Amino acid sequence: MLSLEQFISTHTLGAAASTPGLLTAAYIIAAVLFIMSLGGLSTQETARRGNWYGIVGMTIALIATFFHPLVTEGGGYGIIITAMVIASGIGITLAARVGMTSMPELVAILHSFVGLAAVLVGISGYLAPRNPLKPGSVEANIHNIEVYLGVWIGAITFTGSVIAYGKLRGKIASKPLMLPGRHFINLAMLIASIGLVLPFLAANSPSEGTWALLVMTLIALFLGYHLVMSIGGADMPVVVSMLNSYSGWAAAATGFMLGNDLLIVVGALVGSSGAILSYIMCRAMNRSIVNVIFGGFGATNGNGSNGSSHIEGEITQTSTEEVGGLLKQAKNVVIIPGYGMAVAQAQHGVYEITNLLRDAGAQVRFAIHPVAGRLPGHMNVLLAEAKVPYDIVLEMDEINEDMPETDIVLVIGANDIVNPSANDDMGSPIYGMPVIHAWEATDVIVFKRSMGAGYSGVDNPLFYKSNTRMLFGDAKASVDGILSQLRA
Ligand code: TAP
Repeated sequence: MLSLEQFISTHTLGAAASTPGLLTAAYIIAAVLFIMSLGGLSTQETARRGNWYGIVGMTIALIATFFHPLVTEGGGYGIIITAMVIASGIGITLAARVGMTSMPELVAILHSFVGLAAVLVGISGYLAPRNPLKPGSVEANIHNIEVYLGVWIGAITFTGSVIAYGKLRGKIASKPLMLPGRHFINLAMLIASIGLVLPFLAANSPSEGTWALLVMTLIALFLGYHLVMSIGGADMPVVVSMLNSYSGWAAAATGFMLGNDLLIVVGALVGSSGAILSYIMCRAMNRSIVNVIFGGFGATNGNGSNGSSHIEGEITQTSTEEVGGLLKQAKNVVIIPGYGMAVAQAQHGVYEITNLLRDAGAQVRFAIHPVAGRLPGHMNVLLAEAKVPYDIVLEMDEINEDMPETDIVLVIGANDIVNPSANDDMGSPIYGMPVIHAWEATDVIVFKRSMGAGYSGVDNPLFYKSNTRMLFGDAKASVDGILSQLRA
């Protein structure tokens, strides 16, 4: 068995070169499976398969890691198995308990673990004894930059994710923290982080360079905290996706540091897919990604105005009997699901309504807004779970132009995504966000429990329009009531 010093000097800095062939083959297979997994997850029809590719890829990666020389020769099985048993227990319990609506919080806190791991692996990798690279050599500098970068991104990801978790969970106020000169503070921290790389690289031994690494870590921890504290609740979904991206880059940097090809590939996949997802979400909400990252723009209702001042008209209430009667007459129905459908778990009843109407000869389609619910693809997952056929589930852009020819629109627990102020009220905080044009249909039925606002805290003029009727109550109870009417 090699001593700790020997195996680190043999493998840590050149594992890629010394990794046995079988291990390399396993890593390549796992990497290909991860890529196929991402490809599969891009459409609903292939998502289940994509998920399995990911599961198999991760299993292969875990088994292969067990046979990595760092583990076999380092004799670390006891620690690894203990850590895996504890971590799996926590992971399985949390994943089994968490509801779909709390998924963004879970994702946020999981990102914090990736960030923390990158920090700890980076610092311990640097402190590892007998670094065989000659201080000041090109190889040593490259290795140290990998350590520095991995720790920097990891520290930002760690505190940023913890704050995002707190905000999503409601433990930290969603209002953005607006410190005076906050952009200057961020810039100063960035410059200090870059500046500290000089003494860090100039150090002749870990004992000389550790202080610079630790000071930079503290700065990065505060930077992550400050960046996410400055972002309002309404932009939190994009922030979680950005942190997902950061966690990927932190993992990739750690992969370079450890010479682990699989970690580099997986980190790059997570980093780039998170960045692309953030971009798509920003476009769906008409927000600038730069504004989101640097914060202070996503206040739910920063200036005290919620756009309600211009709303005219009266509310018309309706009943399940009336809606049942309208649906029996309708030839063309569009259902717009939102967060409330997820909360009420009304999707199965909605599917039954869909079947009854289709059996009666009506065309029924679903209109999905890219940020309906609380996480990307939230509605698609719920509808797939209820077995709604994929071909009648359309994206907002595919169905918006059909709205004027639609007899009846059922807005089930959705609010912001059908708010006309986004289209026509320049003073509204959500002005410019693309929305589903529900109001253009002949009749609009809104299922909700009260006149309360949606996630963005903005009032909705749709509720006051002459062709809108409000069906108050829990969405599941309302859907069940309509089902009884349709079956009668
Ligand atoms: P919201 O605008 O949040 O509206 C949901 C509506 O559902 C509320 O007005 C609420 O009204 C109603 N509701 C809640 N529980 C209900 C129940 N049991 N039965 C019936 N109705 C119920 O949701 P949306 O239209 O899906 O829009 C999504 C919003 O969340 C957007 O602002 C988006 O930016 C934001 N967001 C999106 C994401 C992603 S990535 N999808 C992540 C985080 C945030 P009552 O309380 O009156 O019932």
